Amino acid sequence: MALHYHSSPILLLQLFFYFSVSFAAPRSNETAGGVRIWPLPVSVTHGGHHRFYVAKDFHLITEGSNFSDASRILEDGFSRLLDLVRVAHVVDANLSRFASSSLLHGIHIVVSSPSDELQYGVDESYRLSVPGPAPGKPAYAYLKARTVYGALHGLQTFSQLCSFNFESRVIEVRMVPWNIIDQPRFSYRGLLIDTSRHYQPLPVIKKVIDSMAYAKLNVLHWHIVDTQSFPLEIPSFPNLWFGAYSKQERYTIADATEIVRYAQRRGVSVLAEVDVPGHALSWGVGYPALWPSKDCQQPLDVSNEFTFRVINGILSDFSKIFKYRFVHLGGDEVNTTCWTVTPHIRNWLRKKGMKESDAYKYFVLRAQKIALSHGYELVNWEETFNDFGSELSRKTVVHNWLGTGVAQKVVAAGLRCIVSNQDSWYLDHIDTSWEQFYTNEPLQNIKDPRQQKLVIGGEVCMWGEVVDASNIEQTIWPRAAAAAERLWTPYDNLAKDPSQVFARLAHFRCLLNQRGIDAAPVSGLGRSAPWGPGSCFVQ
Ligand SMILES: *[C@@H]1O[C@H](CO)[C@@H](O)[C@H](O)[C@H]1NC(C)=O
Ligand SMILES: *[C@@H]1O[C@H](CO)[C@@H](O)[C@H](O)[C@H]1NC(C)=O
Ligand SMILES: *[C@@H]1O[C@H](CO)[C@@H](O)[C@H](O)[C@H]1NC(C)=O
Ligand SMILES: *[C@@H]1O[C@H](CO)[C@@H](O)[C@H](O)[C@H]1NC(C)=O
Repeated sequence: MALHYHSSPILLLQLFFYFSVSFAAPRSNETAGGVRIWPLPVSVTHGGHHRFYVAKDFHLITEGSNFSDASRILEDGFSRLLDLVRVAHVVDANLSRFASSSLLHGIHIVVSSPSDELQYGVDESYRLSVPGPAPGKPAYAYLKARTVYGALHGLQTFSQLCSFNFESRVIEVRMVPWNIIDQPRFSYRGLLIDTSRHYQPLPVIKKVIDSMAYAKLNVLHWHIVDTQSFPLEIPSFPNLWFGAYSKQERYTIADATEIVRYAQRRGVSVLAEVDVPGHALSWGVGYPALWPSKDCQQPLDVSNEFTFRVINGILSDFSKIFKYRFVHLGGDEVNTTCWTVTPHIRNWLRKKGMKESDAYKYFVLRAQKIALSHGYELVNWEETFNDFGSELSRKTVVHNWLGTGVAQKVVAAGLRCIVSNQDSWYLDHIDTSWEQFYTNEPLQNIKDPRQQKLVIGGEVCMWGEVVDASNIEQTIWPRAAAAAERLWTPYDNLAKDPSQVFARLAHFRCLLNQRGIDAAPVSGLGRSAPWGPGSCFVQ
C-alpha cells in the first residue's frame, strides 16, 4: 500500500491502520502510528506492512557524488545520525540471525554540488527513499541532494523514520517503501539567543545548535552584547570585554570561531548582532568615552567620532569570523534623553541643526555604511523602518518584532523582512502557547508573489533576562519546533487547526528528550512541568 498526500495529512487516519499503538489516546486526528516526521516534508509516500532492520554495520556510500567531503561534514553527519538512532535502547539481538534480505545495509548519498559553502539561500532540498523488500539484493536507503546541507536535512528525516522494535530488539524502519521529497518554504529559519542578559557557556550553545538541526532551523541569531554585559573579545578594542559580568563569563575569538564552525557543520549559519546605538551601555565599561556622560550612559555618544571607530573595529573583527551574508545592527528602543540632557551632545546637535530623531537616523545610517564597507548586507530591528524606512540602505532586511502587519508594509516598500512578532514568536513570553507559535503566518495578508519572496523567513527569539544555562532548553523547546514547521513546511501541508498536530509534536518532543534535550511538555505553556503522571506522548 502506498499513500500519497499533499494538503491533507488528516486523510491518513481514514486510510491508514497502525501497528503498535503504544500511545495513550492521542489528542489528534493524525495517526499515532503513521507519519511522525517533524517538520512535515513537502511530500511523503510510504508502504504498510513491510519493514527493514537496521544492520549492525549500517554504512555510508557516497559513490557518484561530486562532493568530496574534504571537511568530513557528511561523514560526521552520518555518524551523528547513527549515534542518535542508537542512543535510545541497547540493541541486544544477534543481527547475524536475521536474513540479509530483511536488513537495511546503509544509506547511499549522492550530493551534486562540490561546494560546502554555507550561505544564505543555499539549496537545502533533498529526496530520500527507502526501498521495499527486494529479495536477493542488499537494500540501501537512497538520499539525493544538491548540497551537503540538503543531505544533512535528509539524514535528520531518516533518523525520524527509525525506531526500536521491542520484539526483535533492533532498530527498524517500518512501513517501507518510503519516498520523501522535501525543501524548505523559507530560507531564513532563525532562533535568537541572548548572551548579554545571561552568559551561556559554550557547550550550552552547542547543544542548542544540535537541537536546531533536529528541527531544521538554520540560523542562530547571536545577540552577543547588550546593555547588561559585553562578553565577546574584540581584538581591535581590547577593553570592550571589560563589560563582561566576570572574567569567566566571556568568549574569546577562538570560542566564537568554534561556535561558527560547529554550527556550519550542522547546516546552521550564525547571524551576529551588535545593537546600536541603544542597548550598548556595557561598551562604556571599557571605554567610558562611548557614554554621553558618567551619569547618562546610553545611547552611545553620537557626537563622538570615536564611537564610529569602535563600531568599525567591531565589524572589521566580525567580518573575519562571521561569514554569513548579513550582520544585525539592532537599532531598536533608542531613548535619546541622554543626548538631550548632555551639554556637549546638545551643542553638537544644535551645530548640526539636528533634532534627536535626526541624530538617531544619522547614527543608524552611518553604522549601515560601515557594515556595508566590510561586505555585509544588513539587518535592523523594525523601528528603523518605521521611523525612516525610505532612507535605509536597499540592502537592509527589516526585522519585525513589535507586532503583526509590519512585514506587509516592509515588502510593499520593496525591502526584505524577517518576521518575529513578539505576540507569537517571543520564547521569553512564557504564556505564549505552542498553538500560537504554530499558527503565526509570516505571509499573512501578503498576496503578491513578488512581495512574498521578500519575506525571507522568520525567527523565534529567546531573550535572556530570565534564562540561563539551567533552563534555556526547556524554554526554547518544544515551542520553537511549532514555528520551525511553519517555516519549513509548505503552507498547504500545515494544519489549519493545530490540535491536529499535537500527537506528532508530542512525539517530536519526546524524541528531543530521548536525545538529551530538555524539551518541556507540549501541553503546558513555556517550560512548564508535567501536569501529573502520564506518558510523554500525551503531555
Ligand atoms: C477526528 O475526526 C473525526 C471525524 O473526522 C471527528 O469526529 C473527531 O472529533 C476528530 N477528533 C479529534 C480529536 O479532533
Ligand atoms: C549470532 O548468530 C550467528 C548465526 O546464528 C552465530 O554464528 C553467532 O555465534 C551468534 N553470535 C552471538 C554473539 O551469539
Ligand atoms: C556532477 O557534476 C557534473 C558536471 O557539473 C554534472 O554533469 C553531473 O550531473 C554531476 N553529478 C551529479 C550526481 O549531480
Ligand atoms: C529615557 O532615558 C532617561 C535617562 O536615562 C530615563 O530617565 C527615562 O526614564 C527613559 N525613558 C524611557 C521611556 O525609558
